[in-house]
Amino acid sequence: MGKFYQKLFAKYYDPFMVELELRLYSRRNELISPLVGNVLEVGSGTGVNFPFYDRKKTKVIAIEPSLPMLEKAKQKKTYPNIELHNIGVGDKALDALVPERGFDAIVCTLVLCTVPNLEQALDDFKRYLAPNGKLIIMEHIHAKKKSKAIFQNVVNPIWKKIGEGCNLNRKTDEVLKQKGFKAVNSSYFKNASLDFYEGVFTL
Ligand SMILES: C[S@@+](CC[C@H](N)C(=O)[O-])C[C@H]1O[C@@H](n2cnc3c(N)ncnc32)[C@H](O)[C@@H]1O
Repeated sequence: MGKFYQKLFAKYYDPFMVELELRLYSRRNELISPLVGNVLEVGSGTGVNFPFYDRKKTKVIAIEPSLPMLEKAKQKKTYPNIELHNIGVGDKALDALVPERGFDAIVCTLVLCTVPNLEQALDDFKRYLAPNGKLIIMEHIHAKKKSKAIFQNVVNPIWKKIGEGCNLNRKTDEVLKQKGFKAVNSSYFKNASLDFYEGVFTL
């Protein structure tokens, strides 16, 4: 939608997510706090993940295409080794900003539902990850239960508008596999009536 809605979305995002975030807290912590080295965080939103990075062991480049979300994230920038950029995956200019094979980890939480082209994003991550680099994900995915999956297909066009591009019906777990990402560890869980998939992946 328009710029006004983008601002409104950023303003109310954290209060709207409070309850869900209480249940995601320990999962974020388990996925993010062990990371070391150069990290690319994709779609950092309001900076929810920033407190979980080890400030002594990581250098984070956080990219976020929504300026109002980025402004919120700046308030959660807890240490100098987090660098924020107003750009998204899929933007041509990103290749000039981030080095190929430059990242020990790429972090995507609640973002692969929204990137315009999931397959292309995963191809880009393959170029950005260092050998043995890790892709960290925590994403809601298309429901496994058939009736719920059909419902999600029906409401997706409206949901996508309200949710600033978020899709309810991405089979991110399957696409990761198709793109050659192998799970070091991964798990499915349910939260707020949504199916989630999380884990650590390598190529
Ligand atoms: C639901 S929010 C999640 C934010 C955060 N990662 C979290 O875990 O709370 C999704 C974010 O993805 C961002 N986004 C949308 N398109 C993107 C793209 N092409 N590249 C990177 N981020 C994108 C949105 O602006 C939004 O801030």
